[in-house]
Amino acid sequence: MPKFFALIPAAGSGSRIGEDLPKQYLHLAGKPMIHHAIGTLCSDGRIAHVIVVLSPDDSHWSQHDWSEFSSKLILLNCGGATRAESVLNGLSALETSIAIADDDWVMVHDAARPCLTSVQLEKLLDELTNDEIGGLLAIPVADTLKRSNTNQRATTTEPREGLWQAQTPQMFRYRLLTNALSSADGINVTDDASAIEALGLHPKLVLSDSNNFKVTYPQDLALAELILQKRKIP
Ligand code: CTP
Ligand code: MG
Repeated sequence: MPKFFALIPAAGSGSRIGEDLPKQYLHLAGKPMIHHAIGTLCSDGRIAHVIVVLSPDDSHWSQHDWSEFSSKLILLNCGGATRAESVLNGLSALETSIAIADDDWVMVHDAARPCLTSVQLEKLLDELTNDEIGGLLAIPVADTLKRSNTNQRATTTEPREGLWQAQTPQMFRYRLLTNALSSADGINVTDDASAIEALGLHPKLVLSDSNNFKVTYPQDLALAELILQKRKIP
């Protein structure tokens, strides 16, 4: 039976949020942001290990206590210059550090999506376990879409039918994802699914909801804090 692994790329600096601390360490609901994603992934009974990919010069991880996750957590200090590079470096390092098979599943999840729920995670696993290719959590685009000219004036309204916003986790088999990211050099790969699509394959879109958003701009912090605090109340 194929095993399940989660991999969290956490080697970014959070430039758009504009804080001194890399955003994965900003405090949300009393914990560093990345703690929330690690907690949700580690608490899933099907996931064997959760791999965190840090920047080689990370000086923040060791300032926190991660012992509650020690049975599942694997730490790698091999992050790269882009998200895709961090994921690929992590996947490559796994080949020599743990027993991972070509057809084992890897769920790649952004450290910057702290509001992922166990329900969303289980839905992804349930819908993809027997899938040929794999897929990702996503939501249909809700807003009306405008195309602008260079003066920031709307020229046309784009049809939103068939358009989705990609989220994470994104779940693919170990060898397929490693090969896809290795051969995606030069393509603008902002998520794992785009490397799979570049091979001509069609990842499945698993319906999620907007609470699993990516904390990107300063104003996103307050919403994430609100969602996480609300969940703490029984
Ligand atoms: N990431 C990574 N290695 C990089 C860049 C990003 O592991 N070289 C990770 C981030 O830490 C984050 C995820 O990829 O968990 C999604 O990236 P993003 O939200 O863009 O985070 P940052 O790149 O840190 O933020 P920004 O783009 O605003 O600088
Ligand atoms: Mg980035």
